[in-house]
Amino acid sequence: MKLPKEFIEALRAARKLVVLTGAGISAESGVPTFRGKDGLWKRYRPEELATPFAFKKNPKLVWEWYDWRRSLIAPLEPNEAHRLIAELEERYPEFALITQNIDGLHKKAGSKKILELHGNIWRVRCTNCPYKGEDYRVPLEEVPPKCPECGALLRPDVVWFGEPLDAEILNEAVHHSETCDLMLVIGTSGVVQPAASLPLIAKNAGAKVAEVNPESTPITSIADWSIRSKAVEFAQKLKEHLKD
Ligand code: OAD
Repeated sequence: MKLPKEFIEALRAARKLVVLTGAGISAESGVPTFRGKDGLWKRYRPEELATPFAFKKNPKLVWEWYDWRRSLIAPLEPNEAHRLIAELEERYPEFALITQNIDGLHKKAGSKKILELHGNIWRVRCTNCPYKGEDYRVPLEEVPPKCPECGALLRPDVVWFGEPLDAEILNEAVHHSETCDLMLVIGTSGVVQPAASLPLIAKNAGAKVAEVNPESTPITSIADWSIRSKAVEFAQKLKEHLKD
C-alpha cells in the first residue's frame, strides 16, 4: 500500500485538520468492532443491551454487558494509529478529533481535546440526580452500580440507540467539519448517524476527505482518497512521510 502523493500534499498544506474515528481504529488494539464478521452486533442484540428501553427492562443485564466490555478494554493499549493522531494534534494549530469510540484509547494515546460523540465507557451518570463521575474499576463491585449521592441507579455515560447525542458536542463537531481543509476518516462503517454525515458536511463546505478503511463504505463515494489499509499500517506509512 502506497499513500497517494496528492493526499500527502493536502495533509501538508492543510491549515485545519479534522480526524473522525470509529471502531476500526481500535480493532488492532483488541477492541471488537460492531459490524463485520466478528462484530459485537453479530453476537449480541443491540435492542436488548444498548437502548434506554433495554436498560429500564433489565438494568442488571445491561450493566453486566458493559462490565464485560470494560474488563475487556481495561488492559488494552492504544496502537500506532491512536498515537499518530495525538502527534497530529501537536502539529496543527487548528485541529479537532471527533470519535464515535467510547473506549478511551485516544486519551490513553495522549490526545488532549477529544469530541466523544457516543460518550465514554469509563464514565457513569445517575438516572435520577445530576451526578456524573469516572469509574475505572473492573469488574465493578456492585452490578448494577448505585449513585453515591442519591442511591438511585447509575448508567454508563454512553449514547444508546434511540437517544440524542449531546447537543454541545455535536454542534462543535459540525462546526469543525464545516471549517476544516481536510477530514481524515479512519475505521468507521459510516452507517450510524449523525456521525456518518460529518464527512459530507466537510466535503460540502469545500474540504478534502480521505478515508482509511480496508473495506469500502458509504463514505467512499464522496472521499477524495480511499486508502484501503488497516489503521496501523496507514499510521506507519504516514509517519515516514511526516519525518521530512
Ligand atoms: P463499525 O463496527 O460499524 O465499523 C468498523 C469499521 O472499521 C468497518 O468499516 C471496518 O471495515 C473498519 N475496520 C476494521 N478493522 C480496521 C482496521 N484495523 N483499521 C481500519 N479500519 C478497520 O464501527 P463504527 O463505524 O465505529 O454506536 O460504528 C459506529 C457506531 O455503531 C458505534 O459508535 C456504536 C455502534 O453501534 C453506539 O454504541 C452508539
